[in-house]
Amino acid sequence: MRRKIIAGNWKMNMSFAEADDLLATIIQDIDANGLPDNADVLVCPPALYLELATDMASGKELLVGAQNVSSQPAGAYTGEISAAMLASVEVDYCIVGHSERRQYFHENNEELARKVDMLLEHHITPIFCCGELLDDREDDMHMEVVSAQLEEGLFHLDEEHFRQVVIAYEPVWAIGTGKTATPEQAQEMHAFIRALVAKKYSKEVADQCQILYGGSCNAGNAKELFSQADVDGGLIGGASLKAGDFATIIRSV
Ligand code: PGA
Repeated sequence: MRRKIIAGNWKMNMSFAEADDLLATIIQDIDANGLPDNADVLVCPPALYLELATDMASGKELLVGAQNVSSQPAGAYTGEISAAMLASVEVDYCIVGHSERRQYFHENNEELARKVDMLLEHHITPIFCCGELLDDREDDMHMEVVSAQLEEGLFHLDEEHFRQVVIAYEPVWAIGTGKTATPEQAQEMHAFIRALVAKKYSKEVADQCQILYGGSCNAGNAKELFSQADVDGGLIGGASLKAGDFATIIRSV
């Protein structure tokens, strides 16, 4: 049985005080109500608040992820944060290749592959994002696009390392738009991704691989999305900023 993962991606939102407050509320809820047995829950706050988050989450069931990492190990890269730095404040996960990073910061699969390597070297679990643009889907190219992203960004890994990675399918047209993929569209793509993994590695590796859905997942639609056979949880943006909605999503697995 694959474990589910619910990951909150806070993006570039919240002041320090607001982040502190949201973390405290999420932890209180987990302390009071526990977590579903089959799920891991994490939040990915802005980098500036990671140490606050790992401190507050220490000894609790909450895990912490970063939103980005440098592809370089160390040195003169002003403004960047290395995998070693993330590891030094006990970050567990890191999102890699979110579509906003691909679009606004021109990150390509080659650079993302290096980021994945850096994270694995420091025992941080990459959450590798893939997903097509609306044009790709309208041109019936969505499978090809996702396949190329995985091939170039992730499939350079040997089996041992690949087993340490989580995949997030996030159709770009669904992110922050309120327009969710239908459960059938999500399931179709997740099954396709799992088949690619089986072909590249093995069926056993594919059966273990956790594939999250992201894109306007919310308290109202999470249950149906997570009930699909190949959907192993969600990467949640907007709805993860509201403690009540996030709690409902956690309990939808
Ligand atoms: P959204 O974002 O839930 O606000 O659509 C998801 C994501 O970008 O990870």
